[in-house]
Amino acid sequence: MKITSRALLALFPLLGAAASVAAADVQAEKANLERGRYMVITGGCNDCHTPGYPQNDGKIPETAWLTGNAVGFQGPWGTTYPANLRTFVQSLTEDQWVSRVQTKPFRPPMPGFNLRQATESDLRAIYQFIRSLGATGQDAPAYAPPEQAVNTPYIEFVPKNLPAATKISAATN
Ligand code: HEC
Repeated sequence: MKITSRALLALFPLLGAAASVAAADVQAEKANLERGRYMVITGGCNDCHTPGYPQNDGKIPETAWLTGNAVGFQGPWGTTYPANLRTFVQSLTEDQWVSRVQTKPFRPPMPGFNLRQATESDLRAIYQFIRSLGATGQDAPAYAPPEQAVNTPYIEFVPKNLPAATKISAATN
């Protein structure tokens, strides 16, 4: 006797339900990763966290994305280095990531004030996408406070040639 899938489904209706739930899960997971990728691109994360990204018009392979940057940003806050997010996300659970972004301040020029505005589901999608890329690369150099000299390359992130009246506030911002 030929057993059709229809006959099987008639015999085991739950089997069909389970299969469609699993397919829906796979679809949802795919959509979530796509959302995370979209957020990373439009959120500008690669601009600082991926070496060479702005200089190459964004044409850096995804395998090299978000591996951190050894070129620092120096200003009144000291010298900061865009973290290696590929290894960073491996050290946190998804809930810890959400709480880190929402509750702990970031030093400049990390735009934490923008990232904090993302919905929780977008933050989760970002985490899942970065995690799906896998861990790779070295840790970025550690933060150096203002009085500490650094011997890494750095970008001086201080406005120059400002009109006298705005000099003080801009220098401390
Ligand atoms: C203008 C440059 C810039 C952009 C754009 C940027 N970052 Fe950052 N990011 C930094 C710097 C610099 C640091 C280190 C800040 C510090 O030392 O507190 C940092 C730190 C972080 C950290 C903290 C890691 C840790 O060790 O605590 C996370 C998480 C992070 N960035 C995520 C993102 C995400 C996600 C995006 C995109 C939405 C993004 N960043 C965009 C520059 C940037």
